[in-house]
Amino acid sequence: MGGITIYGTGSAVPAHSLDNHDLTRMVDTSDEWITSRTGIKNRYISKDETTVSLAVEAGRKTLENSGIDPQQLGLLIVATFTPDNFTPSAASMVQKHLGLNHIPIAAFDINAACSGFIYGLTAAAAMLSALPDCKYGLLIGSEVVSRIIDYSDRGTCILFGDGAGAVVVGRNENSRFVSCLGSKGDDEILCAKIADGDGYSPKFLTMNGREVYQFAIEIIPHSINAVLDKSGCRLEDIRYVICHQANERIIAAAESRLCGRPGQFVRNIEKYGNTSAASIPILLDELNRAGRISRGDKIVLVGFGGGLTWGAVMFEW
Ligand code: UT7
Repeated sequence: MGGITIYGTGSAVPAHSLDNHDLTRMVDTSDEWITSRTGIKNRYISKDETTVSLAVEAGRKTLENSGIDPQQLGLLIVATFTPDNFTPSAASMVQKHLGLNHIPIAAFDINAACSGFIYGLTAAAAMLSALPDCKYGLLIGSEVVSRIIDYSDRGTCILFGDGAGAVVVGRNENSRFVSCLGSKGDDEILCAKIADGDGYSPKFLTMNGREVYQFAIEIIPHSINAVLDKSGCRLEDIRYVICHQANERIIAAAESRLCGRPGQFVRNIEKYGNTSAASIPILLDELNRAGRISRGDKIVLVGFGGGLTWGAVMFEW
């Protein structure tokens, strides 16, 4: 696939935050344990915000940042594993709330858990290549993970936060785009299943943290190497590697294994925790708004999550 790039970014988080000290009043844990094992200090938790409302706010900021006329959008994808409804999709609701329901946008959700943004970006790139009439797409990763978290389970409640991040993507013949995706077909290691017999209410998220950790520290370097091989680039050519923000130790392990240079493997996990499909675009938005990305910079995004899914992309800004 060739010729797509990102024209704008945006993000949104709930108003209410929950820091490690707040969590010590809820479960048997400590700021020291959470910080040393995960790098997380704070996360944002929804009280009134929904997956759609966060997505709308991030989407609106992204369109402003891109300077693209929203009427030119042909595609709207929301990556989420915590949708508000089975149907309509979050994407159709975002279309409505952005006032775009009078134009024929292809709108749908994608669920690849925490890899959702990488899958969504690949789907957007493929659709933009296949549909000449479709000039731009809005891709949003939006999650209210807190709605499926058991706040008496210290093994999971310390990790996750809510939020949304978004990008406008469009064709650009001078920019390369390379993607590698995969899934293991596992339904035990990291799950949030729909309970049977009680009206389809979701069960809490359950996770074997050690197994996910082992999976992550193998699959992240593997995925990065796969997109580098496919693109003919070396790690030295890459300005930023943006890993899914799941655990500081997981990012540090990949950075060390691949001998990343200082500042190349960027992080913001301390402030937001693991926001699943939103974590990568929130960090991309921070870099963009801080003026830290220049046209032509090569960027690798890499994610992993429930499924077990994984994926990486390399693109040029
Ligand atoms: O998007 C993907 C989502 N998931 C992930 O990325 C998860 C990946 N895994 C991890 O990040 C880590 O495995 C965790 C942070 C979840 C756990 O860290 P760990 O170093 O693997 O700890 P552990 O599960 O091996 O537990 C070590 C000890 C246990 O006590 P014992 O058995 O040694 O007495 C746990 O009960 O730490 C205990 N523990 C805690 N202690 C204080 C587990 N959670 C906590 C806690 N506070 N919150």
